[in-house]
Amino acid sequence: MKYEQKVMLKNGKEALIRNCTGADGSAVLDVFTLAHEQTDYLLSYPDEKSFDAEQEAGDLEEKMNSPDEIELAAIIDGKIAGIAGIGAVGRKYKVRHRADFGISVLKEYWGLGLGRILTKASIHCAREAGYQQLELNVVGENERAVSLYRSVGFQEFGRNPRGFNSRFSGYQELVYMLLELDNI
Ligand SMILES: CC(C)(COP(=O)(O)OP(=O)(O)OC[C@H]1O[C@@H](n2cnc3c(N)ncnc32)[C@H](O)[C@@H]1OP(=O)(O)O)[C@@H](O)C(=O)NCCC(=O)NCCS
Repeated sequence: MKYEQKVMLKNGKEALIRNCTGADGSAVLDVFTLAHEQTDYLLSYPDEKSFDAEQEAGDLEEKMNSPDEIELAAIIDGKIAGIAGIGAVGRKYKVRHRADFGISVLKEYWGLGLGRILTKASIHCAREAGYQQLELNVVGENERAVSLYRSVGFQEFGRNPRGFNSRFSGYQELVYMLLELDNI
């Protein structure tokens, strides 16, 4: 999928939100690694990375040409400040209406409105792609993320008390959320 939009952040700086391309492979991988170092709320640890820059580039190129998947980058001063994306839950008829959502903003850019902008852009893309439901899971204590998701309309539909097992803090409760795209 393709997407491009210029936005103004809370600090008055301009950001470009656009779909990633194969050329972003190495930069996206760096952001992915840094974001996973900066928080304990994501699925994996940096040392568990299972792909290299070349594979990432191939994946991003595929998404750019996909009718229903996208990886978005927020560019500030020529650098990637955050990434977000939607992916199909599955290709079978019974689950074709569902997409997954994920997002990471680098810590130095938190609080500027980028999370909200990337989330809304992803919702727009999910609707454009024809999905009826956008889904995510989030660590319950990740208040910044939970509050962002609720504020754009995601609703909680369940919890897994032992969803993640953190190396540092033990079990983390996962909150499952969904947004019905045909109702808004
Ligand atoms: C969660 C995340 C994407 C938010 O990004 P961000 O750019 O800081 O988000 P925004 O500046 O758009 O703020 C979004 C909302 O978060 C909420 N928020 C901000 N700071 C908060 C805080 N300290 N406590 C609770 N909520 C907070 C507010 O509701 C805010 O909305 P508003 O100020 O527009 O009313 C970002 O912190 C992040 O990438 N974290 C690490 C990775 C991660 O946790 N990803 C989500 C995995 S499910």
